[in-house]
Amino acid sequence: MAILEVNHIEKQFGHTKVLKDVSFSLDQGHALAIIGSSGSGKTTLLRCLNFLETPDKGEIIVKGERIYKAGETKMSDSELLQKRLHFGMVFQAFHLFPQYTALTNVTLAHKLSALKKPETKANRKEVFDKINARGLELLDQMGLADRAYHYPHQLSGGQQQRVAIARALALQPDILCFDEPTSALDPELTGEVLKVIRGLAEKKTTMIIVTHEMAFARDVADEIVFMDGGIIVEQGPARQVIENPQQERTKAFLSRYSEG
Ligand SMILES: Nc1ncnc2c1ncn2[C@@H]1O[C@H](COP(=O)(O)OP(=O)(O)O)[C@@H](O)[C@H]1O
Ligand SMILES: [Mg+2]
Repeated sequence: MAILEVNHIEKQFGHTKVLKDVSFSLDQGHALAIIGSSGSGKTTLLRCLNFLETPDKGEIIVKGERIYKAGETKMSDSELLQKRLHFGMVFQAFHLFPQYTALTNVTLAHKLSALKKPETKANRKEVFDKINARGLELLDQMGLADRAYHYPHQLSGGQQQRVAIARALALQPDILCFDEPTSALDPELTGEVLKVIRGLAEKKTTMIIVTHEMAFARDVADEIVFMDGGIIVEQGPARQVIENPQQERTKAFLSRYSEG
């Protein structure tokens, strides 16, 4: 079943059309990789899903519920926050809070949202203990059990990105989105982050991964979308798109990659 349907999304900045009629769907438990040259609109697409940008046209459906339709959906701030929770975001630059430990980075949003619920007030300690326990579990899952009380500056880039992944998972999003999660990392730290994402795919986490790691996309994703100039040029099963692309533009893009 499709957990996400994106239909006819368009987005323009000034006179520049950055997304032109983008449609795709994603099944529960699948990983979708988005590949394409710099400037093709990949980040803008992820930002539209998360309402960091407002699409000019199109609709977004999550679990059968239309959460956005251009021109019709008017959202209050609290609705916006609620809808954003469908998507977890992991960015290229990790964006951790420097003043907080790894564990606090992972648990903060969850605690703040728990505090908004009246029932939390009565047994705050119990609720927070549970959130902390879950945070520690997620850090452990990321191979960071011994780094929970470290601050971001005490962690390597790869470790910081794994904290960011744990933080995104803490809110239990329906779909976890990555925007070039390893692009800011030294090559020797890329592997540890890709390994964590691979582990999430094996556990059938529903994911959208914008990446320049072609072999990773081929091996870990179920489907691949290739974008160029704000449109989806080709989409299909991961191995097929990488090893046997049908469109000339996909072939040209991939051959530039294999040349390094
Ligand atoms: N806020 C913005 N204002 C104006 N132009 C933007 C903005 N964000 C992105 N763009 C432009 O949109 C195009 C696509 O950008 P982006 O989505 O970041 O592509 P990608 O992630 O594939 O590199 C680029 O030409 C970029 O300059
Ligand atoms: Mg980008």
